[in-house]
Amino acid sequence: MIPTLKESPADAEIASHRLLIRAGYIRRVASGLYEFLPLGLKVIKKIEAIIRDEMDRAGAQELLLPILQPRELWEESGRWAKYGPEMMRLQDRAERDFGLGPTHEELITDLVRSNVSSYRQLPVNLYQIGPKFRDEIRPRFGLLRGREFLMKDGYSFDRDEEGMGESYQRMYDAYGRIFTRSGCTWRAVEADTGLIGGDVSHEFMVPAEVGEDFIAYCTDCPYAANLELASFRRPTPPDDQDLIMEKVHTPGRRTIDEVSSFLGIEPRRLIKCLMYLVEGRAVAVLVPGDREANEIKLERVLGTDEFRLFNEEDWKRLPEYLQGYVGPVGLDGAEMIADWSVEGARGMAAGANDVDYHLINVKEGRDFAVDRFADVVNARPGDLCPRCGGELKVEAGIEVGQVFQLGTRYSLPMRCHYDDENGVTRPMIMGTYGIGVSRLMAAVVEQSHDEKGIIWPLSVAPALLHILPLNYEREERRRAAQELFQACRERGWEVLLDDRQESAGVKFADADLIGIPFRAVIGKGYDKNGNLELQVRASGERFNMSMEACLDRLRSAMESV
Ligand SMILES: Nc1ncnc2c1ncn2[C@@H]1O[C@H](COP(=O)(O)OP(=O)(O)OP(=O)(O)O)[C@@H](O)[C@H]1O
Ligand SMILES: [Mg+2]
Ligand SMILES: [Zn+2]
Repeated sequence: MIPTLKESPADAEIASHRLLIRAGYIRRVASGLYEFLPLGLKVIKKIEAIIRDEMDRAGAQELLLPILQPRELWEESGRWAKYGPEMMRLQDRAERDFGLGPTHEELITDLVRSNVSSYRQLPVNLYQIGPKFRDEIRPRFGLLRGREFLMKDGYSFDRDEEGMGESYQRMYDAYGRIFTRSGCTWRAVEADTGLIGGDVSHEFMVPAEVGEDFIAYCTDCPYAANLELASFRRPTPPDDQDLIMEKVHTPGRRTIDEVSSFLGIEPRRLIKCLMYLVEGRAVAVLVPGDREANEIKLERVLGTDEFRLFNEEDWKRLPEYLQGYVGPVGLDGAEMIADWSVEGARGMAAGANDVDYHLINVKEGRDFAVDRFADVVNARPGDLCPRCGGELKVEAGIEVGQVFQLGTRYSLPMRCHYDDENGVTRPMIMGTYGIGVSRLMAAVVEQSHDEKGIIWPLSVAPALLHILPLNYEREERRRAAQELFQACRERGWEVLLDDRQESAGVKFADADLIGIPFRAVIGKGYDKNGNLELQVRASGERFNMSMEACLDRLRSAMESV
């Protein structure tokens, strides 16, 4: 069951999606739902074996939790209401509510609280590998963003922050080894904690053009962070003369571009005043004219996710704010939050809160007072590293894993407690750790393919060797192929034998597509002197050799992983 295809499916926009389907590894059932065909499952099992090996080595224990999760547990953590439509919900015949697990913090916390009660039983580190469901708004890119996908999720429980820090570091190190052994290049970056909660978090990113995440990283020091929260050092504002603020007529000019070209002032010297409705009240957010507000940063600063930019109705309902002419000078009634780059800024232009007028030579502190300065804009290439002042670069990446220091986010509301040495009851301190197993499979392909097909790293390849007897109906060649097949099986190596009566062209094209690291061609050379042609998928090298020599070469390759 290796249904290779000549044509790519119409919805496959990226290489891993196209190739995994064309090479017969996966098949789409519905949006975001895929079947793993025999070859696909072999790759998944290879990745899982690497994960298990590293997790067990790091002292974690594997278990398996149900996918259906009762509403009551999610009520305890407060996430039944919070998680939103990404969690698929359903009822059983008695009309009890369940969710299809998008992640398993609630279940694991329930398990641990009912079985661990003393400091002597801690720390505990548990993990599982299994399906997760998330009803993503935009399932796409094949395995990269599915609705049902495979995840390794792990959870640590410690007595205190220090213990949790150690558990976190052990998982962080294990993750690095897992991605390296899977044949990826990767980068660990500081990350936002989102719906999972907690304080400290890192994501493991596989750099790839098709990645949906963006990473800012320093070229001079190890600083790297998801653009969602990457900070940067603001340059000192230009030391212009303290000119007197002036009001200028700017008829019909409302947008940054219109005002900037009309006044002949660069966009970065304009103060963009964004009006937000935050839990019902108006908040002004000041950013330089050439930057956008970053709403993930803003959420942290505001301490709530209940906010949005003014819509048409808000502008009408609150006529004291003039759309297109709103600015910080004389702005009453709204809290004013400004990006750090506005601190000390002078010689700026801004809306005058008067139709068809703007102000120039505006100076922060003199002409208006900011309530709070904060980091609320995106970093971009060329910005200064917040740690060392070096140059930041930005690259796209695929998030293949994330680790979180949760603290008591779940143990407090769910009363996951233990008694310490002195008999004092304390909440356990948790960490949570995830790897997108099926996403990792696609990420490996993104990094490792050519125009002809996949090039599997040996560690996760579905087989070591692909045997290609040409004209399989020929008795001699068939016997040789079967002998080689048996020899591999006896050595415990996985091997694929193309026993189809297909033309050499079809067999070679499929072999390139499928991407098994080594290929043994049994053809004319075999008839002449009993030699095979061993081909290396990655380099394209070919070697004429006897079957014995071929097996030796394969053995040394196996020993290197
Ligand atoms: N829809 C998905 N399809 C495949 N893998 C996924 C999906 N969502 C998450 N993962 C994988 O599971 C891991 C752990 O889940 P986590 O909760 O951190 O995901 P996430 O941060 O919500 O992912 P994303 O930001 O890509 O939606 C992720 O690092 C990722 O590798
Ligand atoms: Mg994540
Ligand atoms: Zn730096």
